[in-house]
Amino acid sequence: MNITVVGTGYVGLVTGACIAEMGNTVVCVDVDPKKIENLKKGILPIYEPGLETVVEENFEAGRLLFTTQLPEAMEQSDIIFIAVGTPPGEDGSADLRYVLEVARQVGSLMTRHTTVINKSTVPVGTADLVRAEILEQLELRGKDISFDVVSNPEFLKEGAAVDDFMHPDRIIIGTDSERARKAMSELYAPFIRNNPRIKFMGVRDAEMTKYAANAMLATKISFMNEIASLCDRLDVDIENVRLGIGSDQRIGYHFIYAGCGYGGSCFPKDVKALISIAHQNDFEPKLLQAVEARNEQQKQSLFNKLAAHFEGDLKGRTFAVWGLAFKPGTDDMREAPSVVLINSLINAGAKVKAFDPVARETAVPEFPEHWFSEGRLQIVDGQYEAAIDADALVLVTEWKPFRRPDFKALKKLLKQPVIIDGRNQYDLSQVEREGFDYYGIGRKL
Ligand code: UGA
Repeated sequence: MNITVVGTGYVGLVTGACIAEMGNTVVCVDVDPKKIENLKKGILPIYEPGLETVVEENFEAGRLLFTTQLPEAMEQSDIIFIAVGTPPGEDGSADLRYVLEVARQVGSLMTRHTTVINKSTVPVGTADLVRAEILEQLELRGKDISFDVVSNPEFLKEGAAVDDFMHPDRIIIGTDSERARKAMSELYAPFIRNNPRIKFMGVRDAEMTKYAANAMLATKISFMNEIASLCDRLDVDIENVRLGIGSDQRIGYHFIYAGCGYGGSCFPKDVKALISIAHQNDFEPKLLQAVEARNEQQKQSLFNKLAAHFEGDLKGRTFAVWGLAFKPGTDDMREAPSVVLINSLINAGAKVKAFDPVARETAVPEFPEHWFSEGRLQIVDGQYEAAIDADALVLVTEWKPFRRPDFKALKKLLKQPVIIDGRNQYDLSQVEREGFDYYGIGRKL
């Protein structure tokens, strides 16, 4: 099959590369010439385990092509994925400008039956807008060409994106067209040979499925963070509670880890967008609003714990921060809790020495330049280097090398043996034995 993927961000690039891996010819299109040039040289815009190899191999095999020219790409394709960004507007609603611009171009270039697939996360009703935009262009050109608009939301996780795409736990296809069903079934057949997991539904149902999935997961996290705050006050260990409730199969162990708040490009944006969709439809989404507010509050929790330990006296102190990316396995800094913590600390007059195994370059633009030049913020090259003479260590992202540190070495390096564990990684009896003051999320010594 010949396929075009518009947008080479996370979703677009992973989709393009993985579909090419199955023997299809895929042209990835992006408006950013620098990005395209880099991709041709094998330089990826994102860090994602395993993606570089899939891109490289398929590029070399001539199955994966990169261009800034949509007309060129469309010449051969009868399937087009729209995988461009839908950033939040000021009111939290998804900005559809880029999606609709692609639809406009597709309508102005289309020469034969085309299946247009929305892969970007978009509000219910967007497929109708895309269809209208394409129709308008066809009418302007006086052409009567048939086409389908399909909603096929993506459920991949950063850090595990290639594996998620290659072994999907479900493929959601929203369409009422038999022809599109057939095309989509053929396209995805190689990914689900051992387990046919395609769910067909209406276009609007598929659009809502994507938001509902992310909002549900975000709700689980905010719920656990709420219970953790109660645990903090009641001398209860949330980790025992987590194990206790997770064993109930109706609840399950996934996504019930209390922490310093969810980040990334999806949960915060999608929960906000769903709230905005509700408002546009005269509905007050009280639960979603609480999920969102709870998360904002949670991102402040690490700072609050430090402020409580040092009785508000943070000025002039230095803090070690382990982990900058919003989660392990990625260099993505979008909505990362580390940014909220570091901003609060530096604004309170403290200094920060941070370390992240991967997100070093991507972290820099998140902070004012002068913080670096004035020595208020340093991004150092090693996890133990960050701890030297720090008044406390804060674990923000649970990268593997942070999980079992050398506590003895750490104690010697730190000015004071204080650990704030934003991901509940450490064993309470061990940190106690080693003589640390320890604060987790919903657990303390
Ligand atoms: C999320 C969803 O998990 C994917 O299914 C979805 O496809 C994707 O959004 C998307 O819409 O594109 P992602 O943002 O990559 O994927 O990251 P997650 O692994 O879901 O983590 C999100 C945040 O929740 C992280 O900040 C993580 O630390 C936090 N989290 C996760 C918790 O605080 N507790 C948990 O128990 C689980």
